[in-house]
Amino acid sequence: MEPNFQALRKEFPVLERKTYLNSGSYCALANDVKAAFEAYIEERSLLGANWELWVTKNESVRALTATLLHAAPDEIAVTASVSAGLNALASALHFSGPRDKVVISDFEFPTNAQIWHAQEPRGARIVHVPRAADGYIPLENFAKAIDEQTQLVAITHVCYRNGAKLDIPGIVRLARAKGAKVLLDCYQSVGSMDIDVKALDVDFAAGGMLKYLLGTAGIGFLYVRDSFIQSLVPTSTGWFAQADIGAMDITANRPAPNARRFEAGTPAVVNCYAAEAGLKFLLAVGAPAIEKRNYALTRRCMQRLEEIGWPSITPAQNERRGATVAVPSRDSGRLSAQLLKRDVVTSPRDGNVRASFHFYNDQDDVESFIAAMKGLRDSFGPR
Ligand SMILES: Cc1ncc(COP(=O)(O)O)c(C=O)c1O
Repeated sequence: MEPNFQALRKEFPVLERKTYLNSGSYCALANDVKAAFEAYIEERSLLGANWELWVTKNESVRALTATLLHAAPDEIAVTASVSAGLNALASALHFSGPRDKVVISDFEFPTNAQIWHAQEPRGARIVHVPRAADGYIPLENFAKAIDEQTQLVAITHVCYRNGAKLDIPGIVRLARAKGAKVLLDCYQSVGSMDIDVKALDVDFAAGGMLKYLLGTAGIGFLYVRDSFIQSLVPTSTGWFAQADIGAMDITANRPAPNARRFEAGTPAVVNCYAAEAGLKFLLAVGAPAIEKRNYALTRRCMQRLEEIGWPSITPAQNERRGATVAVPSRDSGRLSAQLLKRDVVTSPRDGNVRASFHFYNDQDDVESFIAAMKGLRDSFGPR
């Protein structure tokens, strides 16, 4: 049975005041997540510290993330950010041999580019796969870049600038044929669509909790395929990455046998509370139903933009798009500010205004966005 999306809107108070189309930046706050923050504050004020409970919160986030990604809890590191997970992973890779190449794409968020460029002094060669004339990156461009020297193909699932979704199964096939591993940066997709890391056959996946996962900033995850964990020893590490955290052994580095070896220091406890509540909420709604709804909302939004003569640059086919509709503007910063004055929350990126949809949005939100855009078309739209 389809979730009652209209009833669920009541769980997000901001929706009473705003047309909130900014989940690709930061999600709307659910009442459950707010209550989780408050529960943490309450415990802090009444008990001071409650480490026995707090460590279970971190484990709960790990288990819920595993369920969401169709992975095992032992394959999930709970990290402070995507950056933290990627730095730990990069520190465990070696670039001095024949496989020195890391292939990334033109669609990357800075995190998944700068961290690989930071490995250049360690011998890594970073190759960028360019987009084609239509703005998309077709498989043949990846085929030209992925070869026997490629150690890792590190790619975004959905581009944060234009909402385009890459052909991950196709890219994984190309990588497999050349013996390369694949890292998926799924920050712009996880929670907005159903992601099965096993079905996608990626080796690593990273994301965070503040966008479509309904949580907060300051907490993320790194999925590592179980068969690789033992052979990867991060040099970017910490005491919570040790096999026995309680051992407090200062004579050696003994990494955990599971993906926890990619973690570092003391977990961000308050963020675990929020992330746990967000993940539970999202899993109860269900990723497949959310994916279906987001495709319907983005499709409708793109149709309406066509009708008002201000088409988006986001690919029209479902296989090539995520939950964001990107609209080009003469001045995306000022356009986004003007939309905000009309209580429509979007975010400007790279010459586009992004309208990011989540299950708590509805057709009325599409219409409010369109009405506001129509009024601003002459000042900010296509000439
Ligand atoms: C695709 C993508 N990757 C990574 C990040 C950010 O990563 P971090 O958790 O390191 O800030 C974002 C944030 O907007 C993103 O959209």
